[in-house]
Amino acid sequence: MEFRPQKIKNLEIKNPIVLPSMVCFSFANKNGFVSSKNIEHYASIAKGGVGLIIVEATCVTKEGRLSLDQLGIWSDEYIEGLSKIAQVCHEQGAKVLIQLHHAGLRTPKNVSQDPITSSYYQKGDLVAREMSITEIQKIQNDFIQAAIRAEKAGFDGIELHGAHSYLMTQFFSLKVNKRTDNYGGTLENRLRFTTEIYQSIKEKVGNHFIVGIRMGCNENDLKTSIKMAQKFEELGMDFLHVSTGFDNTPIREEVPEKFPCNWIVYGATKIKEQVNIPVIAVNAIKTKEQIAYLLDHQLVDFVAVGRGQLADHHFVNHMKKDKAIVHCLGCKPCRWFFNGDQCPRHRIKK
Ligand SMILES: Cc1cc2nc3c(=O)[nH]c(=O)nc-3n(C[C@H](O)[C@H](O)[C@H](O)COP(=O)(O)O)c2cc1C
Repeated sequence: MEFRPQKIKNLEIKNPIVLPSMVCFSFANKNGFVSSKNIEHYASIAKGGVGLIIVEATCVTKEGRLSLDQLGIWSDEYIEGLSKIAQVCHEQGAKVLIQLHHAGLRTPKNVSQDPITSSYYQKGDLVAREMSITEIQKIQNDFIQAAIRAEKAGFDGIELHGAHSYLMTQFFSLKVNKRTDNYGGTLENRLRFTTEIYQSIKEKVGNHFIVGIRMGCNENDLKTSIKMAQKFEELGMDFLHVSTGFDNTPIREEVPEKFPCNWIVYGATKIKEQVNIPVIAVNAIKTKEQIAYLLDHQLVDFVAVGRGQLADHHFVNHMKKDKAIVHCLGCKPCRWFFNGDQCPRHRIKK
């Protein structure tokens, strides 16, 4: 496998391996300020040779956090700490984006007693109320201001978090969004919350600044996700990072027997066939053989390896030099990194 440099728009990336966004809830300082642990974590992974780092879900409002320990970007005070993450990644020759996030109905009670979403939602303990138009505009502006801060902090761009059941997917998905105004109903309307954010960010940031989105390949179904991807391309999004949408319901399309990865990665390859912007595939990609299959057949443009790089910060260098990779055991102490240091592979990371 050749490790060719890749591009997203004009951004040259030294190789096609990506660190996907992964929160490290046990690392941040109080109120979501960047700590020395956050900086060391990204510096160490950047040293391991990865081409593109997408910094963890960073919340655009205090009230939309997924945890009290989540990194924040809702005021200018956060720029300085975040800029140190961007700097250490750049020093190692990696490019770096930051993922902008709002949990919507997934906001826990210790963060907000009044979670909001596209329209009234209740399932088990999860209850959230419908956002008014004023609230939609306020949260849109929070995303826009966050993107401006990300640029000031020295990031090469942002990834909008339009996956994994959070606020953007709560507008995309018919399972939540029952609105009858301009933000609900047709696909175009369900995308509007995000497309307006995108358009306004583009007006306010430099031309070089990358803006892409993480989205599901199963946002209701693969067919709808392909339409979404095409609409994002038409809009001008710089890349698509394909994962799961509002929930984890698998796509109906059968994954061919010879395909060496799961349905989420297969979904990414199907989306890639229908768009002309870079596509990142992710999920349970662990081996050099899987990566080579996806890249050598040009099924996607980039491959993201998440837990694999948590287990072995030098995953990319080891792979390039044909050295043994310290594989992730899939044992879960790293879930959201509340107990990240308990990763049994931790001792061999550095
Ligand atoms: C510790 C941890 C934290 C995560 N945090 C985020 C996050 O902040 N944003 C996000 O979009 N996905 C998050 N994810 C999902 C990963 O980005 C990735 O999609 C998932 O781990 C599957 O890829 P992998 O099998 O290569 O790890 C997280 C996953 C883990 C294990």
